[in-house]
Amino acid sequence: RKFTFATTAALMASVWGGAALAQETREFEVSLPLGPESHQAVGVLKFGEELERLSEGRLTIRPQYDNALGAEREVVEGMSFGLIDMGITSTGPMGGFVNDFMLFDLPYIFTTADAAYAFLDSEHGTALADKLEAETNVKILGWMENGFRHNTNNVRALNTPEDLAGIRHRTQESRVQVDTWTALGANASPMAWTEVFTALQQGVMDSQENPVPTIYDVKFYEVQEYLNLTQHVYSPAPLMMGADLFNSLSEADQTIVLEAAAIATPVQREASQQMEQDLVAELETLGMTVTRPDLAPFKERVQPVIAQWKDTVGAELVDAALATAP
Ligand code: MLT
Repeated sequence: RKFTFATTAALMASVWGGAALAQETREFEVSLPLGPESHQAVGVLKFGEELERLSEGRLTIRPQYDNALGAEREVVEGMSFGLIDMGITSTGPMGGFVNDFMLFDLPYIFTTADAAYAFLDSEHGTALADKLEAETNVKILGWMENGFRHNTNNVRALNTPEDLAGIRHRTQESRVQVDTWTALGANASPMAWTEVFTALQQGVMDSQENPVPTIYDVKFYEVQEYLNLTQHVYSPAPLMMGADLFNSLSEADQTIVLEAAAIATPVQREASQQMEQDLVAELETLGMTVTRPDLAPFKERVQPVIAQWKDTVGAELVDAALATAP
C-alpha cells in the first residue's frame, strides 16, 4: 500500500511538479468493531462513497470489519502512532485517553438522540475533538453514533435495579461504567469487546449492554435471553483518522475528507435510529424477551456515580450535557 502511494506521488510530482501532490491516489483502511450490515458500516460506506465521488476516484477506503485490525483501544492507539489509517469506535475505551470522554459513560445524561446531536454538533463536540487530537494525535472527522445502550442478560428480566443482584455483567473498559453497574447492584467487570460474545456463550459473563443495532449485528440473541430497554447511556461512534495522516494530505484533500464525513454523519445517524426502531421487534421474533422497565429507580441509584465522577470528567461539560434535557 505504501509502495503504491509513494510511487504514485513520486510519478505525479515528476510529471506536474509540486502542485501534483493534490492529485495523490490513496486507499485508507478503516477499522470497524461491527460487520458490513451494521449501523457503523452504513456511515463508513457512505463516507467512502462520498470520498470517491468528491476526489473523482483518487481517494478510496478499505473497510476492515469485526475488529480485524484489533480491539477498539488498540485501534485508537494504532491511529495515534500512524499504524492504522482510520477507524470508527464506541467512546467506551476513550475515557482512558482523555477524561472528558467519560462524559459518554455517565448514566442518564442525554435523554434523547436529538439532544445528543445538538450537543455533539455544538462547540462542545468541537472542543472534545480538539482535546482528543491534542492529547492523542487522533482526529475526529464526524460524530456518528452507536446509539442508546440497553442491557441484555440470560438470567432474568430487569424490572428494577434489584433484579441485577448476583448477575455477572460485562462493562466496557471504563471505570465509570464499572461504578455505574456496581451501583445498580450487578457484579461488574470490564472486558474488551472482542471477548464478549465468547464470554456470554461460555457463561463467564451473564450480561452486557449495547445499542439495539449492535445486539442484532453480533447475534447476541443466540446467547442472551432478555433484552431490557434500560437506555442508560447515549454512545457516540466517532469516525476518526490519524492526525499525521490527515495533515500529510494536501489542503484540497483534507477538505474532501471532512466534507465526505460531514455528508455521511447524518445519513449514519438516521439509519441507526431507524434500525433501533425496527430491530427491537426483530429481536423479539428471534426469541428475546423484551422488557421496558420504569427508568426512575435506575436513574436514582446512579446519581452518586455522577456526583463522584463529575469533577474528573469536567463539571462544566457535565452541566452543559445535562442542560440538553428537554
Ligand atoms: C462495546 O460494547 O465494546 C462497543 O459498543 C462495541 C462497538 O463499538 O460496537
